[in-house]
Parts: sequence; structure tokens; C-alpha cells
Amino acid sequence: MAVPLAQTTLLFRTSLLSRNALRSFTTCIPSSSSSSSYSSSELHRKKWRQPVASVLEFGGVKIGREDVVRDDPTNNVPDSIFSRLGMQLHRRDQHPIGILKNAIYEYFDTSYSNTFDKFDNLCPIVSVKQNFDDVLVPADHVSRSYNDTYYIDSQTVLRCHTSAHQAELLRKGHTHFLVTGDVYRRDSIDSTHYPVFHQMEGVRVFQPDEWEASGMDATSYAAEDLKKCLEGLARHLFGAVEMRWIDAYFPFTNPSFELEIYFKEKWLEVLGCGVMEQEILKRAGRVNNVAWAFGLGLERLAMVLFDIPDIRLFWSNDERFTSQFSKGQLGIKFKPFSKYPPCYKDMSFWINESFTENNLCEIVRGVAGDLAEEVLLIDNFTNKKGMTSHCYRIAYRSMERSLTDEEINELQWNVRDQVQSKLNVVLR
Ligand code: DAH
Repeated sequence: MAVPLAQTTLLFRTSLLSRNALRSFTTCIPSSSSSSSYSSSELHRKKWRQPVASVLEFGGVKIGREDVVRDDPTNNVPDSIFSRLGMQLHRRDQHPIGILKNAIYEYFDTSYSNTFDKFDNLCPIVSVKQNFDDVLVPADHVSRSYNDTYYIDSQTVLRCHTSAHQAELLRKGHTHFLVTGDVYRRDSIDSTHYPVFHQMEGVRVFQPDEWEASGMDATSYAAEDLKKCLEGLARHLFGAVEMRWIDAYFPFTNPSFELEIYFKEKWLEVLGCGVMEQEILKRAGRVNNVAWAFGLGLERLAMVLFDIPDIRLFWSNDERFTSQFSKGQLGIKFKPFSKYPPCYKDMSFWINESFTENNLCEIVRGVAGDLAEEVLLIDNFTNKKGMTSHCYRIAYRSMERSLTDEEINELQWNVRDQVQSKLNVVLR
């Protein structure tokens, strides 16, 4: 996924999602009931749009669309994202993401005799404090911006990483744990980027007697244990692969590393990790401890392990996709079914100062949903008057059927309209 961790503040509307209410919710269960208060015409405003999920339930409190998607400058969550909330691909044993999660569980269960506590049902709606402050993300870090993160209001976000749960679990006394969940980021459109994906976070805390017995200092002891653990995990998933460690930076760890493996003639970044910042442990009441932490992106690994060529496929209900995977079967290679032809549409406009590619991509996804395969900047120049023009090529393709010219033209006109009205750019 793109960046490891990659604002406006108005009135905070009281809702079911008040921060106090949120804090006490630890589980997030999609409700099968359809007791939604909004009309079906609202739900299906566009015929090609995925139907928006019904009401979600958080520990007995119902959360409707209006609590997550609001016409308010402090909110930037579109319907297309609300429709993904509560889908929990990582909890489906027959889905590549669930199969991979279970394979990682298996590694930890056998290597550490079931000592790791596992969480895969923590609510993805978290406070800004949990998502950023608690893991020491600096106030001016780019990942906090409305351009990168989905805000429900100025104090509440859709978690952009599973690290958002580190502090609360440490505070509750957990010392060995894995957190798996859906995470949300505003991002570009191509075969490896999707605004919802899945991560697994791992944390292990050590007591003084553990490193003292080794004669090593606490940090080196934790770093060595971390590397051994993750090299073992990579071998468990990929077999006897070549690996290398790269120094990295994360606000929550020091030192920080990335693990890369050599797979199909390329170095592939597998995860980020490091020795947890002492401040995080101190705030959780663990002054004399040291800990390691890691975070890995499940889609990225699953694409490689199952040979899945496009990240949108994970969301497909097409039987030709879903029927290829079974519980416990990590090695299966996906056999692509017939690919329908893409259709390309170009669009040029003069950008303004506030233009961002993520905002453009949000519009394209809002209009075309998963029919949008790629949005690519193909031309970029500044004229003598200092005006900058961008030309984007949008690739539309369905993985399930042929699209008609008429349908694509309608999508493209709709995108053009919205780009003009919402982004205030001048079409050329
Ligand atoms: N939260 C990071 C991300 O989303 C991944 C990560 C890196 C998690 C290092 C960790 C860590 O726990 O120690 O990119």
C-alpha cells in the first residue's frame, strides 16, 4: 500500500457516534436486518453503484448511514465507503483475506503456544486520538489530512491503520496480541490501491527478566526477537525466500524496519515494524517494559500468494472468483476468467491550488464504483500565465461483464460534471 501512514473543524454534531459512546464499543457486527430508515431509491441512486449496506450494529447500538455519511464540511465519507463498512472480508474463512489471516494465526499459535490474543472484530470507527495521538503521529503529519483520511467529524475517523488499537489494548493489560481489521484511506485508483484494505497488527511486550537473562540491552533484545519472529512468518507464508531488512521510519517505533522478500524476481515490501516507542508503553502504564510491533497489509500479500491481479477482485461476489478458494488452502493460484476489454476516456482541465488527485479519484469511485480500474495522469504542463493543466486517462472495466458505450459515456459525463462542480476546476 502506498504510504505507511501517510482539517477543518466545525461543529461536532451529537450522534450515536459520540466519542464516549464509541469508546465503549469494542465489537462491530454487521446487522443482517434491513430496518434501515432510508429509502431504497436513496440506496440505489445509480444503477451500477453497489447497494449501500443496511444498518450496522455496534454492541447493541445501531449505526445508520446518516451517522457516518453527512453533508457537512467536517465529513468526507462517501456512500461508496459506507457500503464497505462491516463487510469484514478478513472474517470469511473461504476468502483469500480470511485464509491468509488464519495462516498467520496458525504460525503464531504454533510458534508461541497460543499466547497471542487475537482481535478481528474491533470497530473501525475510532477517535482521532486513537488513530493518531495515541501512537504519537505528529500534529502536522500528512496522514492526518482530510485528503488522506476519512473523517466522520473533526474528532472521529475510519481507522487508517490497525495501529489505532495498540494503546487501548496495552492499557487493558494485553501483552501479546494480533489485531486484524479493515482500514480506510483516500487514495489513487489502480490495480493495487483501493480505499478499503485489511491490515494485521502484532504486538509483544517483554518484562525485564526476559532481556536481563540474555545479557543484551532491552531494545536490541526486542529488535532481535522481532526479526526472528517475522522471518519465521515470511517463511511460513512464502517458503524458503530471500529476505532483507530495510531501515525505516514510523512515528510509533524506534528503531523501525521494513521487511522485503525476493519474490518473482522483485523485492516486495512485506511489512513495517520496530521497537515500540517507550512513550506509548509509559502512557499505558508499562514503565519497565519493552515491546515490538509490526503491521502488515493483507491484500498485498494475498495478491502475491494467490496470484490475484487486481485488488478490486477481493470485493467481487462473482462465483468465478469466490469458488476458487477454500478454507485453509493458502497455496491455490487464482485462474483469471475472461477479461472484458477496458474503455479509456481522457479528461483535461486547469487545476486550482486546492486540487488533489485523491479528490478526483473519490469522484470517479463515487460515480463508477468498482468499474473504475485506473486513473492515470498522462499529461501535465504549465502555460506562460502560470496555469497548470492536467490530463487524466480513466480506464473503465468490469471484471464481470462487457460495458456498453452508452453506459461508459454516461459515467464519463457524470464524472466531468462533478469534477467541474465539486473541484472547481475548468475543463478544457
Ligand atoms: N501502521 C503502519 C502503516 O499503516 C504499519 C506499521 C509499521 C505498524 C510499523 C506497526 C509498526 O505496528 O511497528 O503503514
